Amino acid sequence: MRDVAAAPTRSRVLPRNDPRQYDDLADEWWRPDGAFAMLHWLAEARAALVPPAERPDALLVDLGCGAGLLAPHLAGKGYRHVGVDLTRSALAQAAAHGVTPVNGDVTAVPLADGCADVVAAGEVLEHVPDWRRALAEACRLLRPGGLLVLDTLNDTVLSRVVAVHVGERLPTVPRGIHDPRLFVDARALVAEAARHGVALRLRGVRPEVRGLLGWLFRRVRGASGAAPAGRAPRIVPTRSTAVLYQGWGVRKG
Ligand SMILES: C[S@@+](CC[C@H](N)C(=O)[O-])C[C@H]1O[C@@H](n2cnc3c(N)ncnc32)[C@H](O)[C@@H]1O
Repeated sequence: MRDVAAAPTRSRVLPRNDPRQYDDLADEWWRPDGAFAMLHWLAEARAALVPPAERPDALLVDLGCGAGLLAPHLAGKGYRHVGVDLTRSALAQAAAHGVTPVNGDVTAVPLADGCADVVAAGEVLEHVPDWRRALAEACRLLRPGGLLVLDTLNDTVLSRVVAVHVGERLPTVPRGIHDPRLFVDARALVAEAARHGVALRLRGVRPEVRGLLGWLFRRVRGASGAAPAGRAPRIVPTRSTAVLYQGWGVRKG
């Protein structure tokens, strides 16, 4: 596989997974049918794993929050939403959607041990050169009894084919955004979380097929200016964790 990738509409060529891609794509975050559309669908599915807050001032720390796409799906659940991200252009948009921004690395988060009732790590572990450190940070931030929710891409051949070789040829995944060498082995993730006191349960997820095909059809027609917006595909459970999977678990008290 080539080690560099260029989205054809962008002016510069960046290495795979280079975080500067998020600056180049900054205008795409909140376009419902834009380059990050699938992140909106995944954010809704991730938020569904988060129960309403059990106490006033409950804190949710969103690791790799990007532009805060999780925020609308948490509305009314009663959390203060703090987002940690490397990319300032994304954090500025997150702040505009009610997220308290923290510019930092998810492998060294400048927040106190046990501060969080919920830690969310959506579509970020597979972007971090050392996902084990990011996971250790996620668990460190959780109070005893706190909930970790995450979703990521598995380190399998199928995942590389679906997310990179196929996905990056479709409008669902920006070209060059992933480096498959960073994909996260599901078993290793569960073992590592257990080491940090979190019993993680996993399930595979995928976009519903009819919804996805309809969305892709509208997107392709939309490129020639003819498509209505239409309903976004839902993310649904699937038996296999071989590609995309969610994880959730409570930190031991
Ligand atoms: C695919 S986006 C996911 C954004 C968000 N979680 C969502 O689902 O909409 C990955 C995000 O992780 C951020 N990121 C990547 N590596 C990071 C790191 N080491 N520390 C903090 N943020 C990081 C990027 O800047 C980007 O905003």
